[in-house]
Amino acid sequence: MQIAFIGVGGIAQNYLGSLEKLDRPVAAVCDINAQTAARVADELNCTGYTDHREMLERENLDVVFVAIPPAAHDTQTIDAAEAGANLFVAKPVAMDLDVARRTQEAIAASGRINQVGYMARYSDVTERAKELVKGRDLGMGMGRFLTRMPPSHPWWGKFAVSGGQLLEQSTHVFDWLRYFLGDIESVQAFGHDGPDNDIADFEDSTAVNLRFASGAVGSVLSTCSARVRDGFMTELCGRDLYLRLAMDTHISGYIDQEEIDYHGEERGYFRQIECFLAAVEAQDQNLVRSSYADAVNSLAVTLAANRSLESGTVETVE
Ligand SMILES: NC(=O)c1ccc[n+]([C@@H]2O[C@H](COP(=O)([O-])OP(=O)(O)OC[C@H]3O[C@@H](n4cnc5c(N)ncnc54)[C@H](O)[C@@H]3O)[C@@H](O)[C@H]2O)c1
Repeated sequence: MQIAFIGVGGIAQNYLGSLEKLDRPVAAVCDINAQTAARVADELNCTGYTDHREMLERENLDVVFVAIPPAAHDTQTIDAAEAGANLFVAKPVAMDLDVARRTQEAIAASGRINQVGYMARYSDVTERAKELVKGRDLGMGMGRFLTRMPPSHPWWGKFAVSGGQLLEQSTHVFDWLRYFLGDIESVQAFGHDGPDNDIADFEDSTAVNLRFASGAVGSVLSTCSARVRDGFMTELCGRDLYLRLAMDTHISGYIDQEEIDYHGEERGYFRQIECFLAAVEAQDQNLVRSSYADAVNSLAVTLAANRSLESGTVETVE
């Protein structure tokens, strides 16, 4: 299997670690930063490129990982799809719905396997919680993404590059809730933009209310000013059911009269890559839990939340 990367910064290292564990060598890497491309190509003993089109022309690739900042998405994934590659794209899939929809069409036309890096869907807690809530109605879902933005990634604090915290980071939580409660129809968001905030040029704290197509309600709280234990989590409520899923692989709560206290191990980072490669080998998109098309709907939710931060009114998800 000929594997390549477009973008070999932070998250690509995580994907590369999983590929190494699975004994899957990488054939080529591309990064617009020539030093990064050369360094990673040297480490992996593969060919380095700074232009993804050149890489796609010269290499005969089966799989392309795309791991670039939100605003950098242009035609990279479309070009890789047209070159016949199976695709793994880091979340969020773009910053703009037009780019995402065009890419979605190109992927559909290619008929190739596609997966987006919403790793929470592949975690032990999600697998266990899916079994626990099977056949039950969920009336409410809450989530939170509370973190301190690391200085290693200055672009995260720039709305023009990242799309803000909801689109870039809390997208995991919106997607996680969608995995349990289905599509979100409308949102209303409030934000706090601290006057002395040197972390981000957008709201440092936000509260987003959600209306699901099922009629269920929910909310997502986010901040980029404080790192908090269990800052990445969701809660699910239904009749005689409350589950609290922490990304560090713990579920607590109860169902009927029974207490739930479950500890998992896999946070989803490794299993998402394992699942993707299995899907590619079998050419079976059903093995994928986070398709590109589904991820476009998570993007649409965060774009609606961003519009609501501006308008202050309820916004319909496109
Ligand atoms: N847990 C997760 O799923 C997770 C964690 C971190 C980041 N991410 C996502 O991964 C993406 C990348 O984030 P990161 O932390 O790796 O950022 P990063 O800045 O560490 O790395 C991005 C790399 O992409 C390169 N790049 C930018 N435009 C390019 C282009 N047109 N062609 C080739 N290379 C290009 C940059 O030079 C850089 O090396 C973002 O969308 C982010 O949200 C996901």
